[in-house]
Amino acid sequence: MSQFEPHLFVVFGASGDLARRKLLPAFYRLQQREGFGKMCRVLGVARRPWDDATFRAKAAEALIEAGIDPDEVKAWCSQHLSYQQVDGDFEPLADRIAEIEETGGLPGNRVFYLALPPGVFVPTIEGLAVAGLADGPGWRRLVIEKPFGHDLASARALNGAVHQVFDEREVYRIDHYLGKETVQNLLVFRFANALFENAWTRDRIEQVQITVAEEVGVEDRAGYYDSAGATRDMLQSHLAQLLTLTAMEPPARFDADAIRDEKVKVLRSLRPVDPARAVFGQYVAGSIRGEPVPGYADEVGAPSSTETAVAIEVFVDSWRWEGVPFLLRTGKRFPTRRSVIVVTFREPPISLFGPDHAGHARPNVLVLTIQPDEGFELTVDVKTPGDGMDLDTVSFRFSYADEFGEIPDAYETLIADVIIGDQTLFVRSDEVEEAWAVFEPLLADHPDPDGYTAGSWGPAAMASLAGDHAWYPTG
Ligand code: BG6
Repeated sequence: MSQFEPHLFVVFGASGDLARRKLLPAFYRLQQREGFGKMCRVLGVARRPWDDATFRAKAAEALIEAGIDPDEVKAWCSQHLSYQQVDGDFEPLADRIAEIEETGGLPGNRVFYLALPPGVFVPTIEGLAVAGLADGPGWRRLVIEKPFGHDLASARALNGAVHQVFDEREVYRIDHYLGKETVQNLLVFRFANALFENAWTRDRIEQVQITVAEEVGVEDRAGYYDSAGATRDMLQSHLAQLLTLTAMEPPARFDADAIRDEKVKVLRSLRPVDPARAVFGQYVAGSIRGEPVPGYADEVGAPSSTETAVAIEVFVDSWRWEGVPFLLRTGKRFPTRRSVIVVTFREPPISLFGPDHAGHARPNVLVLTIQPDEGFELTVDVKTPGDGMDLDTVSFRFSYADEFGEIPDAYETLIADVIIGDQTLFVRSDEVEEAWAVFEPLLADHPDPDGYTAGSWGPAAMASLAGDHAWYPTG
């Protein structure tokens, strides 16, 4: 267990949904861990005119909602949480930070976490600099939530503004998919098991599919979502991350820069997406699990050409992957919440067990389930008992829950890494820019999306993109 150094964790946007649902429960759980130490304090910052007591009461509600023992939360909130209203002027914040550090005996190590709308990232970073807050006596770290820009130009501008004040080594861009245990496990699965790594090439793999399916619609984020769409919101970030971890070469070392160098190389090797191999969809009214749900246009209150689902075929032009299609698919209001990476291996070069054999040989398929029911499954063909040579396909399965019980939330992992100072699971500036460069042509030249019924797997054209190997899952 790494030791956590004493620090002050300043959360901008502390009255918001992310702080309530994810950050506060993560702080609480981390502070229960051995080694965390008691000298870590959280300062919530927002525009609302709250005081410490109001913030602590709201935080207590959030922790109880997250399933934490009500008897524990009150004392914890008063010992660890403070609140500062900030509305433009950062001087009162600077005074408050100085006071908390002094009375708490903290050495000046500071994390600034921007759980804020993207439009205020830059003014906030500038405000920190003007108030001298980015020059504490200890270390300082900046955490930014996605979206990191809206396109390549805005991502560059944002990186430029960040680098005016913070060195890249102090910047932690969160793509919360990287905090998911199953996503981190991709590295272990690939690089700790020579069995799979040897087969992880164009010689053995026929196709790779990555699906991130969601049941939810746009919820209360219609304003943001309608200007983003699935390509920006999911493909450029979460799916690009899953793709890079699946396709990257073994890093020279297990450290943040060596791993991120390899991920960037994958993005640089991507062949421009053929527009004919991209499908965009938007859900219309339908039902999910028997419950009627409105269409997207009704949810946002106006007709819109924003895509709520997207699927593309991409190729990684490298020696390892030449010619292997990677199919990426994501959508809202799909029939179920499921994120998987599906690797279909090639059939044996000679088919000894063809159609004359009942259940004749099928390709081995590896399904890595990111969520829910985290784990993996590998299909193999076996002989069915009895006369003749008939075949059946069976699975080797591994379930995280069965083996290890509950797994930590992504935010707990990521916040712990920020405090320790490990950037491995955070997106580097060049990685963000490369990911925008890859998907930008799709943004510029985007046909109107095809309608799909809420509760279906997207428009018909999406199904045909997978070719002979149907999408998994399909229902
Ligand atoms: C966010 C997107 O980054 O990820 C949301 O902005 C999406 O639109 C969410 O719903 C999905 O995250 P998860 O962890 O629920 O799969």
